[in-house]
Amino acid sequence: MAEIVRPESMARITTPELAQAFIDEQIDALRKQIGDKKVLLALSGGVDSSVVAALLIKAVGKQLLSVHVNHGLMRKGESEQVIEVFRNQLDANLIYVDATDRFLDLLAGVSDPEQKRKIIGNEFINVFAEEARKEDGISFLAQGTIYPDIIESKGVKAHHNVGGLPDDLKDKFELVEPLMLLYKDEVRMVGVQLGLPAEMVYRQPFPGPGLGVRCLGAITRDRLHALREADAILREEFDLCGLASKVWQYFIAVPDIKSVGVRDGKRYEGWPAIIRAVNTVDAMTATIEEVPYTVLHKITARITAEVEGINRVLMDLTPKPVGTIEWE
Ligand code: XMP
Repeated sequence: MAEIVRPESMARITTPELAQAFIDEQIDALRKQIGDKKVLLALSGGVDSSVVAALLIKAVGKQLLSVHVNHGLMRKGESEQVIEVFRNQLDANLIYVDATDRFLDLLAGVSDPEQKRKIIGNEFINVFAEEARKEDGISFLAQGTIYPDIIESKGVKAHHNVGGLPDDLKDKFELVEPLMLLYKDEVRMVGVQLGLPAEMVYRQPFPGPGLGVRCLGAITRDRLHALREADAILREEFDLCGLASKVWQYFIAVPDIKSVGVRDGKRYEGWPAIIRAVNTVDAMTATIEEVPYTVLHKITARITAEVEGINRVLMDLTPKPVGTIEWE
């Protein structure tokens, strides 16, 4: 494969006008490439796949078939937002697969982090491939590859997703990667110009295995539920106090240990919810956001009052290194 290099003459997309020019140019190019054929896309709801979807919807409308796989490890409200934005607002051809039970059944009892990641990654491919096989006449596979993916992997990761597909499918599809020369800030500019909601375009990074790497050890449905609810409260409170737009990544992790507590005069055993709020440029190193104590107290009060199963809230003050951003 020829090396992909962003031409020096390509202006950085920093204004709505430049974003619109990129969109117009890509719509033309996509229509030429795709003609009257069909395109398949795995739509996670992350920034890159959402922007690719919105662009392709503008270019080829219902010829784009987006598949959103809910692996049961999404944050609260995320799959619902994908359906609302793409099916209801943009009138997209969206296949929604709720595969929660498949993933959680496979993950039951598995505590090794690498094994958990492998199971989630493989099952994702299985579910996506099953959906792809149900559809006739698909010629293209769209991907949200962006320029940093290409630089970091010298082209390898660009084919990471399709690389995981079974051979019969891999050989069938031609790739469509309209964001391949863009940096993240440019992808966001284009997303805004395409009319995607701000919370989707400025979404903080979220690992592919989702809450699976934050429900530490062997995932159980009750602890995963507690994690999702606690995480939603953290996000709500960070939104309210203005930290949401300032902090690079923030989330809750819930370990598989219980401590004793007391609630309504009775012994109340529960899991701790651990807050992580970090700032970084490239995720290689990270510093800790100094969250005001008033905010921490409010979050603690809400989580311990509102989330079944959580009886303590902790704050992780460890920078990277030594701590990684995620706990596993
Ligand atoms: P760590 O924990 O290594 O994380 O400091 C650095 C950044 O990468 C994200 N991360 C992942 N993203 N799949 C992903 O797509 C993964 O398995 C994964 N693990 C970590 C993490 O959220 C952080 O932004």
